This record gives sequence, C-alpha cells and structure tokens, in this order.
Amino acid sequence: MSTLDLDRKHVFHSWAKQNALVPKEINRAEGCYLYDGDGNKIFDLSAQLLCVHAGHGQKDILDGIKAQMDKVTYVAPGFANEARSKCAEAIARVTPGSLSKVLFTNGGADAVENAVKTAKLLTGRSKVVTRYRSYHGATYGAMSLSGDPRHNINQGPIPGVVHVLDPHCYRCPFKLTYPECETHCADHVEEVIRYEGPENVAAILMEPITGTNGIIIPPPEYGRRMREICDKYGIMLIVDEVMTGFCRTGKWFGVEHWEVEPDIMVMAKGLTSGYLPLGAMVVAERHAKTLNDRVLPLGLTYSGHPMSCAAGVATIEFYEKNNILGHVQGLEARFMGHLQKLKEKHPCIGDVRGLGLFGVIEMVSDRETRKELIPWNAQGDEGKRSKELAGELYKNGVFTFVRWNWIFLSPPLVVTAEELDDAFERLDRSLDLADSWL
Ligand SMILES: Cc1ncc(COP(=O)(O)O)c(C=O)c1O
Repeated sequence: MSTLDLDRKHVFHSWAKQNALVPKEINRAEGCYLYDGDGNKIFDLSAQLLCVHAGHGQKDILDGIKAQMDKVTYVAPGFANEARSKCAEAIARVTPGSLSKVLFTNGGADAVENAVKTAKLLTGRSKVVTRYRSYHGATYGAMSLSGDPRHNINQGPIPGVVHVLDPHCYRCPFKLTYPECETHCADHVEEVIRYEGPENVAAILMEPITGTNGIIIPPPEYGRRMREICDKYGIMLIVDEVMTGFCRTGKWFGVEHWEVEPDIMVMAKGLTSGYLPLGAMVVAERHAKTLNDRVLPLGLTYSGHPMSCAAGVATIEFYEKNNILGHVQGLEARFMGHLQKLKEKHPCIGDVRGLGLFGVIEMVSDRETRKELIPWNAQGDEGKRSKELAGELYKNGVFTFVRWNWIFLSPPLVVTAEELDDAFERLDRSLDLADSWL
C-alpha cells in the first residue's frame, strides 16, 4: 500500500472531516522548502504550524539530538539530567525578568493547563480570565480556556473560565477608535473581573499577540494595564507564548513588546523549532520560592524528556549563535513593506498586521464596511473559499495557513530577503483569485 493509502486507512488528521482529505505527502524538507510526493518544491510560509523557526534540517540541531541519543534517551522526571538542566537554564537565560524555574511538558496545551493549575495553587482561587479571540490548545482544559469557536466542541467546558472581549482595533468590539478610546478594552477586563469577584480570580491568561485568531496586536499600553489589574487584585498574569515565542515577533518573547513581566510564561513550538515535541511552563522566581516549600501536584511521564530537552538546548543555541533575533529585526521592514504593497494592489485585502515575521492578511468583501470575505467561523460550503485559496497558493508553490478570511504569514526565521521576495511574488499572484470573488 502507498503512504497515502495507509494514511487514509489508519491516520486521523486534526480539525478535518476525514473523508474530505487528500493530504500531500512530505518526506523531505530543507531550510524554508518542502518537497512533496508529486515532485513540487513548496515554500513553507507558515513554518508548518508556526513552529519551524530554525527552518527544516538544520545540522546543528540534528547533531544535538543525535549526541543525546548516544547518552540516554529517557530518564524519569525524578532524576536530574544534563540535557534537562541545560534546557531549563537556556530558557531562564532568554526569558525576560526573573522567570527562572521550569516545568517541562509535551507541548503547548499541557503547558497552559499546568500554568493554570499553578496559578490556582498560588492564589487559592478558581476562576481564569481569557479572551474570546484566543487559542490555548486542544486538550479538554486548554480548549475550554480558548475563546476560539472550537471551544464549543467540548461537551461542556471546565468550570471557572471567564471570557472577555478583545483589544482588536480593526474590529473594535466597542466600536471605538484608538487612542480616543483610552484603551477601553483594558477597562472592560477590569470591569468583568469586578463582576466575577476579584477574590475568585486566579489568573488572566493571554497571548501577548493573538495568534490563530487573527494576529491581533493590542494597543501599546494594554499589556501594562493587564499587569496593573493583576497587581491590584493579586491575580497571576500568565502569558501564552506558544506561538509568539523565540524571536517570532522581533523580540525573544511577545510580552517584551509590553515591557511587563508575567508571573508565569508558557511556551512550546519554537522552543525546539518542532524538531521534537516539548513545551514548558516557566515561573517567576518569587513564586518558584513559594512552590519550593510544598508538594507540586503536577506531573507527566515525559516531563523534561532528555531527547526533547537536547533539541531545546540545540535550538536555543542555534538562535543565539546565528543572531536570529537580529535577522528577524532586520527583515521586519521588508516583510511589512511587502504586506503594505499587497494591500495597495488587491482590493480583497482590508487590513494587514504584523510584528517581526509574524503577519496576517485579513480579506474583506468591502473595505468600507470591513465585511469579511469569508465569514468568521465559516463551515461547510461557506468556508470552501479558504481551502480554494490555500489550493491556489499551493499551486503557486506556497504552503501557508489560511483560516476563514485570514492568510497567515510566518516563514521560518532563517528566511533570506530573496526567498521572502519570491514568496511574496507567489502570494501576490494567488490573491488574484480572492479579488475575483469581489
Ligand atoms: C497560543 C497557543 N497556545 C497553545 C497552543 C497549543 O499548543 P499544542 O498544539 O502544542 O498543544 C497553541 C497551538 O497552536 C497556540 O497557538
């Protein structure tokens, strides 16, 4: 049986109607390019699921993983292990402020869940405030914490989750305009917390820059306001950096654009550039000290898996050695310039937003009214156009993540200026299809 036949017979794919799928086969990838089973070379404009920051097949990372394989592949979380200690130290080195102690997880969702458990442990409170336009993972708790419409798939959410409206200037839920609004979206969070009883609220959990729900960049003072609210009521600020971490937005972590220190940070994806699965919850020193005196009711068989930790060490060292942060900062103006040019040319584009190499195109059927070209949460026939556009992009040699009226742009961070120019030229051609729908 062919790979594809075996896949169709035995493999479930996430977030898809299985019978509607004909997946492309990828058995080789290098740098920013995928090589598919039909002999096509495809530019990976979303670094797979916005995780392959270092690009595919980086020798230094592969060597780090291979070297670990010859020492020990697994030791239980109760032991100390060189790769685990070094990975935790590397995380403490690159994260802001006093974030210093790490609980390793298998990925992003379980890091989020452990962060929430830790916030509840530290405060003795039960509620968690998150945003509607948010995604925190697909395990049961993380899905409930997400405001993304997929959270409704749960047969009833976990208790204590309170959703708030978003700091989304292009589609302000309060119909206000920045800066005259005086960041009303932050006042709204405080108002909701007062209704819920601040003494019941353990944490505000937020992506510093919203990822899967449309790359939403809050107004500059929003993050500071969140910190102030947390300080005022003794609430833990948890930032979810699963998508925004590791230089993606032109800072090591998205929260650095806010210039505030979270109590707890959650990360995954770019931590190993997807070479092996690994997530982490990182706690500020002052809270770690409190936790040191009690039994930690958190645990996973593969917490701090030496192979994944070795991948984490090699990946962070790869970013440092190759000054990936400087590279992203250097390309940002070119990246945003390309986005602006596309907006000027294509009437289907209502807005372009981005930071670093983390960008989105938002498509509209009418620039005046900002009506979405493909409706938010479109299903079935209504949502077909997203797939058609992704197909057109692929035909033009580009793979990227298209969701409703958003096209996500987040190439591997090692992309060169020439590769970026070429990808945008292909994107430009593909957008003619969306223009034809107006
Ligand atoms: C912001 C954010 N948090 C959490 C997750 C969940 O991570 P994982 O799929 O590794 O569980 C994701 C995944 O896309 C994410 O974007």
